[in-house]
Amino acid sequence: MTFLEEIQRRRTFGIISHPDAGKTTLTEKLLLFGGAIKEAGAVKNNKIKKGATSDFMEIERQRGISVATSVLAFIYKDKKINILDTPGHKDFAEDTFRTLTAVDSVIVVIDVAKGVETQTEKLVEVCRMRKIPIIVFINKMDREGKDAFDLLDEVEQKLGLRVTPLSFPIGMGYDFQGIYNIWEKKINIYSADNKQTVSKGVEFDDINNPELDKIIGHQAAETLREELELVTEVYPAFNQQEYLDGDLQPVLFGSALNNFGVKELLDCFVDIAPTPQPKMSDSRMVDSKEEKMTAFVFKIHANMDPKHRDRLAFLKIVSGTFKRNANYLHVRNNKKMKFSSPNTFFAEKKQIVDESFPGDIVGLHDTGNFKIGDTLTEGELLNYKGIPAFSPEHFRYVNNADPLKSKQLHKGLDQLMDEGVAQLFTLDLNGRKVIGTVGALQYEVIQYRLEHEYGAKCSYENINIHKACWVQCDDESSEEFKEFKRVKQRYLAKDKRNQLVFLADSAFTIQMTQSKYPSVKLHFTSEYE
Ligand code: G4P
Repeated sequence: MTFLEEIQRRRTFGIISHPDAGKTTLTEKLLLFGGAIKEAGAVKNNKIKKGATSDFMEIERQRGISVATSVLAFIYKDKKINILDTPGHKDFAEDTFRTLTAVDSVIVVIDVAKGVETQTEKLVEVCRMRKIPIIVFINKMDREGKDAFDLLDEVEQKLGLRVTPLSFPIGMGYDFQGIYNIWEKKINIYSADNKQTVSKGVEFDDINNPELDKIIGHQAAETLREELELVTEVYPAFNQQEYLDGDLQPVLFGSALNNFGVKELLDCFVDIAPTPQPKMSDSRMVDSKEEKMTAFVFKIHANMDPKHRDRLAFLKIVSGTFKRNANYLHVRNNKKMKFSSPNTFFAEKKQIVDESFPGDIVGLHDTGNFKIGDTLTEGELLNYKGIPAFSPEHFRYVNNADPLKSKQLHKGLDQLMDEGVAQLFTLDLNGRKVIGTVGALQYEVIQYRLEHEYGAKCSYENINIHKACWVQCDDESSEEFKEFKRVKQRYLAKDKRNQLVFLADSAFTIQMTQSKYPSVKLHFTSEYE
């Protein structure tokens, strides 16, 4: 197969949803179709169950499982599909945001009864900002849920999407009979006991064919005809380019648990989803078809075994062929590196791979060389953008609770921050360290891991901070900037990249600061235009 053919056959995507909408179940069914697993139940639930937020064993278990299910690859219809797993738990949202920098498209799963939930709103917003192509899958159609049109409205309004249904349900819950596949002009009849098999589907080019009444009953056939007419009137026709541009989002209905509508989703996905996309670097746009290898680290995972401190860095190949034992430039460190055992992920197995292509994810054993966002090239000095740090939601001072172990504490904190577990800010005034996280759970994770992996102990102390704002000022020698720094001295800190951050104690402070020092720009993410 040629290099270009390898690129053309790759589809790298993520599934996002609010916890419990059915992401794990859908992933598993997709793997079944790809022949990557033989039976349902093989993919472990990669989530921290409700109520288990302070159960460390559960956290550890989750960490272990998420290595195995971080990337799930399989072949379907000769296409190489890479699914990147995203943690559903909101306290790990930042992990998910970072993973979204490595996908070329996403599938959003929505529970028909619950509709659009908060976690989905946040994640879709990030996708929309980045113009990532989105397919929406409305799940659990076997249950009583919201009316299909109401749900489509909700998706449009709450998620800010422009939708077009590619399938439509015939009834719902107790009366659920199946779906009309608008994409393939077929009817799929649902039966509650076909969990592992796939219903073939009856071709129905002409929805007015009286045969339809015989299959689903006269009343249901009439309703379906009316609804499909309304669909054509109200929603724009599907246009692949608009979907690829992030301007139109196809919607499909089904029930992952019952394996219903999943094959249709996958067939539609391989037909329309994007091949590996170009990516912007700090110096230029890089096309996946370029021969020279470039790649970036979007995730780092610590080893489960505390005795082995090595980590696995997940690398997304953007262009060229990544080869085992070839020399690559680690741009940030300006250091040549080669990798003798890069891993690829196939279903749940890891194996050593000689060559990987754009769209692929490679796991590299790392002894502390990588940080999230690091770029590898064949020599070109470029860095991939788009892995910004977002302002954390929670802030606490971190103190050393065992003075004899201060070295271990610093090393541990350093490495955990490189992994992206949380963000560390060092106050300008007194050098005290503040840890910022997305969720309160991370503080427990950090404390536990510092103790078990680094032999260090820490304690926390409350600090009243509302948001971290990255500071930008075009003229740093201006009087205004100097005054800002003097007045706000107590609240200024440096992040891990040594960027200046203003730790504001309230939304009001941010507003006041902006109006008092208009030339000082405050950003809620570490990367800004
Ligand atoms: P998540 O990864 O998005 O958090 O969701 P997950 O797949 O774990 O699904 C959450 C629950 O919803 C599971 O039930 C799962 O069986 C159920 N589910 C998924 N798809 C469907 C569907 O199409 N129809 C119906 N009726 N249920 C569905 P659970 O009881 O929480 O877990 P389990 O004991 O079944 O594993």
